[in-house]
Amino acid sequence: MPPAEANSPSPASQWWRSAVIYQIYVRSFADADGDGVGDLAGVRARLSYVADLGVDAIWFNPFYPSPQADGGYDVANYRDVDPRFGTLADFDAVLAAAHARGLRVIIDLVPNHTSSDHPWFRSALAAAPGSRERARYLFRDGLGPDGAEPPNNWRSTFGGRAWTRVTEANGAPGQWYLHLFAPEQPDLDWMNGEVRAEFESILRFWLDRGVDGFRIDVAHGLSKDPQMPDLAGGLRAEGPAGEGHPHWDQDEVHDVYRSWRRITDAYAHDPTFVGEVWVDSPVRLARYVRPDELHTAFNFGFLLAPWDAKGLRAAIDESIESLSAVGAPTTWVLSNHDVTREVTRYGGGPLGIRRARAAALLMLALPGGAYVYQGEELGLPEVLDLPDEARQDPTFFRTGGAELGRDGCRVPLPWSGDAPPFDFSPAGRSWLPIPPEWASLTVACQEPDSTSMLSLYRQALRQRHELAALGDGTMTWVPSEADVLAFTRTPGFACVVNVGNEVAPLPPSLAAAPVLLASGPLGSAGEIPGATAVWLAVG
Ligand code: NOJ
Repeated sequence: MPPAEANSPSPASQWWRSAVIYQIYVRSFADADGDGVGDLAGVRARLSYVADLGVDAIWFNPFYPSPQADGGYDVANYRDVDPRFGTLADFDAVLAAAHARGLRVIIDLVPNHTSSDHPWFRSALAAAPGSRERARYLFRDGLGPDGAEPPNNWRSTFGGRAWTRVTEANGAPGQWYLHLFAPEQPDLDWMNGEVRAEFESILRFWLDRGVDGFRIDVAHGLSKDPQMPDLAGGLRAEGPAGEGHPHWDQDEVHDVYRSWRRITDAYAHDPTFVGEVWVDSPVRLARYVRPDELHTAFNFGFLLAPWDAKGLRAAIDESIESLSAVGAPTTWVLSNHDVTREVTRYGGGPLGIRRARAAALLMLALPGGAYVYQGEELGLPEVLDLPDEARQDPTFFRTGGAELGRDGCRVPLPWSGDAPPFDFSPAGRSWLPIPPEWASLTVACQEPDSTSMLSLYRQALRQRHELAALGDGTMTWVPSEADVLAFTRTPGFACVVNVGNEVAPLPPSLAAAPVLLASGPLGSAGEIPGATAVWLAVG
């Protein structure tokens, strides 16, 4: 059911080229049923917050039935909702409520692997080597006289080897199966016709329900070299992939996206794909967003760029150049549920906050779409001191604690009140502890404060809608000091970011331009303080 009736978003027309999409990590957004875990009813109850922010769409992280070995990226049933998060009826209700507020909804599709609890994998374990059931996954015999050695040297992204040996029905040690992530996430074999047909059917299931698109998990990983050669020295297991990598960024994966694009193109409401594509260059990234493949892909080059004018400028130029060569828009990202929050990445404390504020204005002024990860608009920092017993990320466990993992960016949102869990849950608990010092970062605390991060995001998103220059389009660099990024967009807009720590002159052509919005206090006319961004109206 496309969102075409009354109370639905504005008519579709490549909406994804300019959209700002708000990422909702469901288990950490808002808990309605009081179990300390966020849920879809919680999202629905707080939807006005998302709409008031001024975004165009929502991306939901996985909410499907799952043992939660990897925060729901281990899916046991692709056509239902995990009871922790609600029911299919709750999903339909939140989708309808979002559409009624003019918000489109993208959901997360996890095609590289299923959960080890998925009926397909259970039947693969019960079936014999060489069976149709095993052929949906990547089962192989082990090496060595007893097959006791894994089939090759591939490593799991979460640490440890990428193969687990199974026990056959007769109790004997048996074949090995591939899991590029946790053992609870067996990789599917995308050369298998049944796998392809199943995912095409899953796409239609959700499109028929009215979703507006899909975020494709590990979009660069589906196809593996069928010879399964050892990973040669110099190629990293975790990626980004280099050319010649046996399991990332294989050419065959593009066939999958061509067939999926034919499916979405047949729906009138212009559903979109955004690929999670970790590759080693914008040129390789561009291959995923050719006109008959995915519509967009996350721009991780920008996210990974250090807070440095040269690096940021290079990331911006390379992305725009490569993606515009194939006619695709760029999609800028500063954070998500897998990376250290940018306030902390950019140095933490007051300086980290100033830089994050400036980065937000930079991101929202660049041509194309953008993603805002829940809590980014509150300036939440990474929580670095979670107690070990609270941690859930498999990275933490598979590296023996050497890597803290991603729980620190997944801490639930503080809504209101003076003490944890800050009205995240009516029952006064949260699945990860919320730091007491977030009392000053709650939504309720930031709403009335015109200088808060929340107010900055709201103003920027409102202006983004009002200013014809912003969203899809082009930009032109303006010559500036080494630490300053300055560009114009037509009609009548300029953005200047002082990435350095010292005050710098504005470019002369922009020195007298009226200020539309600034990420911090501006000081003397014609100058811009360090770690500050400003939007200007130009004649
Ligand atoms: C990328 C997801 O964003 C991440 O959270 C997950 O662990 C891996 N893919 C595996 O599905």
